[in-house]
Amino acid sequence: MNIMLFGAPGAGKGTQAKYIIEKYGIPQISTGDMLRAAVNAGTPMGLEAKACMESGKLVSDDIIVGIIKDRLSMEDCKKGFILDGFPRTLAQAEALEKLMIEMNISLDKVISLNVPDELIVGRVVGRRVCKSCGGSFHVEFNPPKKEGICDFCGQPLVQRKDDNADTVAKRLAEYHAQTAPLFDFYKEKGVMEEIDGTKNIKEITEDIFKILG
Ligand code: AP5
Repeated sequence: MNIMLFGAPGAGKGTQAKYIIEKYGIPQISTGDMLRAAVNAGTPMGLEAKACMESGKLVSDDIIVGIIKDRLSMEDCKKGFILDGFPRTLAQAEALEKLMIEMNISLDKVISLNVPDELIVGRVVGRRVCKSCGGSFHVEFNPPKKEGICDFCGQPLVQRKDDNADTVAKRLAEYHAQTAPLFDFYKEKGVMEEIDGTKNIKEITEDIFKILG
C-alpha cells in the first residue's frame, strides 16, 4: 500500500504516520526528517537545506526529488510506504509521477488532514519531537507518558528550531502558495480522501484506518 499524508505544517501528518507504521508495517518517508538528519550530520545537502528550513522556506525541488528517488528504491519500500511532507510543489508531484511509472507502482490513497490555520500555530509551538525516531508530541494535546521522553523509543524530546510563531507563519504562507494547489491535482486523479483534522488524535487514527481498511 503506497499512501501520502497531505496537509499544512502541524496538521498531524507525523503523528498519524506513527500509528499507520504500527498497524501496517510500512515505512514513513518524511522529507522533513531526512533533511533534519542531513543538517545534523553536516552533509553538503544539509548545509544547503539548513537556511531554507530555519526561515520557513521550501528546500529546492532538485534536492528533494534526489533524496526521494534514493529512498523509494530501498528494500523496505517494496511492500509500501507513507509519504509525509512530500510532494510539496507541482514540480515534485510531477517528478513523483514519473518515478512511480518507472518503478511500476502507483499511489493508492492521498489522505488530507484538514486543519484551519488558526489551530496550526498552537499545535506547532507546543510540539516536542524525538530526534531519534521522529516521534511527535505536544505539551498539552499529546503529552508523552514520561515528561521529555519519547514513548516510541525512550530518547529525549526536543523543540524544533523552526517551531516558533514567526516561522510557522512563513511555512503556512509557503503551504498555501505552493502545496495546497496539489489538493486538486490528487482529487482529479481520484485518490484523495479528506479527514477532519480538528478531531482528537485517536479519532483521526480511526478515520484513517477506515479508509485504509
Ligand atoms: P516538515 O518536517 O515536513 O514540517 P511540516 O510540513 O512543516 O510539517 P510538520 O512536521 O511541522 O507537521 P505534521 O503535520 O507532521 O504535524 P505533527 O504530527 O508533528 O518540514 C520542515 C521543513 O523542511 C520545511 O519547512 C521545508 O523547509 C523543508 N521541507 C520538508 N519537506 C520538503 C519538501 N518536500 N520540499 C521542500 N522543502 C521541504 O503535529 C504537530 C503538533 O500537533 C504536534 O505537537 C502534535 O502532537 C499535535 N497534534 C497532532 N495531531 C493533533 C490533533 N488531532 N489534535 C491536537 N494536537 C495534535
